[in-house]
Amino acid sequence: MKKTAIFITALFAVSSVQAENQGNSEQGERLYKRSCATCHGKQAEKRALGESAVIKQLKADEIITALQAHKDGKIEGAGNNAKARLSEQDMKDIAAFIQNLK
Ligand code: HEC
Repeated sequence: MKKTAIFITALFAVSSVQAENQGNSEQGERLYKRSCATCHGKQAEKRALGESAVIKQLKADEIITALQAHKDGKIEGAGNNAKARLSEQDMKDIAAFIQNLK
């Protein structure tokens, strides 16, 4: 009985670490709808302000790299306020959500 509990705890720990690495799509959806959809479209299907790429077409790592570059101020644009607030985990979560839209 005890062994089973330990096993289940370990399994849970491993799966939550994996979820963290891959990004949590549900969490990403919440963030995306609140801070990104107005410019990039509900389905990430718009070119924000007619300027950006259609971010739905980007790969997860391309999205994360772009968000980090904006946060670091290496790329500046109209959406930088929204991007500056994101943690690394937020970026992964949002990228996971956008991948799920495909
Ligand atoms: C005020 C409008 C606005 C908001 C809000 C906004 N963006 Fe952007 N975003 C833009 C614009 C304009 C660009 C293109 C110029 C630039 O690179 O900054 C862009 C560029 C990007 C790019 C790079 C795509 C490319 O063209 O290379 C990504 C990825 C991105 N945004 C994701 C997001 C995410 C995720 C959020 C929410 C946290 C967000 N944006 C919020 C306007 C916005």
